Amino acid sequence: MVQRIITLFMILLMAGAITYSDTTIVLDKPLENANVDIMKAFKNRKSERAYTSQLISIHHLSTVLWSGYGINRQDGKHTVPTAYGKDYMKLYVIYNGKAYRYLPEKHCLQFIQAEVTTAMASTQGWVGKSTCVIVIVADMDGFPFYAGLREQQLKYAHATAGCIAQNIYIACTGLKLGTCLVAGVNVTGCKKAFKLHENELPLFIMPVGYPSAH
Ligand SMILES: Cc1cc2nc3c(=O)[nH]c(=O)nc-3n(C[C@H](O)[C@H](O)[C@H](O)COP(=O)(O)O)c2cc1C
Repeated sequence: MVQRIITLFMILLMAGAITYSDTTIVLDKPLENANVDIMKAFKNRKSERAYTSQLISIHHLSTVLWSGYGINRQDGKHTVPTAYGKDYMKLYVIYNGKAYRYLPEKHCLQFIQAEVTTAMASTQGWVGKSTCVIVIVADMDGFPFYAGLREQQLKYAHATAGCIAQNIYIACTGLKLGTCLVAGVNVTGCKKAFKLHENELPLFIMPVGYPSAH
């Protein structure tokens, strides 16, 4: 029986009825060393808005996402500081026309849906030309009751989003990728693309690509 199921799965896979990309993508280990001096990365950091049509590799995406909001310690905390050490941020990704959620604890991309465009994420036209967009989302349900009123919680979320963005900028600089922090978020488009619940607020987006030659 098990053998038959495996055979059927293999046939469907070969026929293209099941594609690997319509499932969770297990990301490989992020780079341990980008061979870039941190001070040089600060010196070279800049916003890039023009990218080639080449999709960034999963290997690069792995390192960029981990730098932005990966887990870097045994106690489950992140590469960025969070208020009260709580986990109220989420990264979502549009990659190759598909929507995913980054799961830091498993370091994988959880498939949400296909037929999604990067244009859905932003109110700014140039973003739609990119093939990969990271969306920085605050999950207001992630705050403990003692984190103050909503206005205070939003301040925390925006501060953490800034840290995530800078980590992504620096990782991109090290990997020779281009990115830009964009406040022009299409909230309705993001909600649709990622099936967000009402307390998940998309704050910023960051297209990522190989910079086109200037
Ligand atoms: C909070 C914030 C919001 C931004 N929003 C946008 C945006 O909506 N669209 C855009 O093209 N750039 C946006 N940027 C990028 C800035 O335009 C950019 O950082 C600035 O021009 C300085 O260029 P540099 O990043 O190369 O130093 C934003 C930057 C910040 C910090």
